[in-house]
Amino acid sequence: METIGIMGAMPEEVEGIIDLMEEVETHEIGKRIYHLGKINKKKCVVVFSRWGKVAASSTASTLIHIFGVTEIWFTGVAGAINDKVKIGDIIIGEKLYQHDMDARPLINQFEIPLLGLDYFTMTDERKLYVFDRIKTAVDNKIFFEAISDETLAEFNIDKVSVHLGSIASGDQFFSTSTQKNNLLSILPGIHCVEMEGSAVAQVCYENDIPFTIIRTISDAADDNSHVDFPIFVQKITKEFTKSMVKALI
Ligand code: ADE
Repeated sequence: METIGIMGAMPEEVEGIIDLMEEVETHEIGKRIYHLGKINKKKCVVVFSRWGKVAASSTASTLIHIFGVTEIWFTGVAGAINDKVKIGDIIIGEKLYQHDMDARPLINQFEIPLLGLDYFTMTDERKLYVFDRIKTAVDNKIFFEAISDETLAEFNIDKVSVHLGSIASGDQFFSTSTQKNNLLSILPGIHCVEMEGSAVAQVCYENDIPFTIIRTISDAADDNSHVDFPIFVQKITKEFTKSMVKALI
């Protein structure tokens, strides 16, 4: 039977997803609490990934090898790298890079050792399906339903754009424009930066299961990100994540 593993990068996201679940039971393994149950009659295991590539990989492995999930979805926030990407926008990870992977001179910068890949990709079919479902929910204003106008104004969110884009993951929180410009100079096509997505994509790739990585922009990965990030997470992320999962399931 199909079982969807759903990982959230913040406890607030996981709380939102658990609100949608029925028949929930919990199991604790390796400092994580796995929530087993059903959303819209589909079997799901929901868990807080914890932060960074190692934590997320370990959580993804447990989902696959202990709970037998047949695919993994990951929802989280991210810092915008491309100027066209604004706070509140949604990025569906078409290409997932690891910006801190660098085993030169043995192999090229960004190449994942032993896999010969510079990035992981979603299948074309899946990415078009996910884009269509999220875009339809956004166009129907589903994402704004539970967020006050005041909060939307605080972040200058008047519309949400949905992008199929490139995500760079690495074990760094971007809190300066210098970090952002450095990343742009080595990976110019990147839409946003976060700390887990490509690690989860790698674990799924190595275990032959599909992955869906979706990020909402919480900050501009610049000198103000340490201020924007926590407020966005506190005020917006739970409701956005709920809308995301409802749109996809
Ligand atoms: N996730 C959300 N914002 C981020 C940032 N600025 N750097 C890394 N990961 C993030």
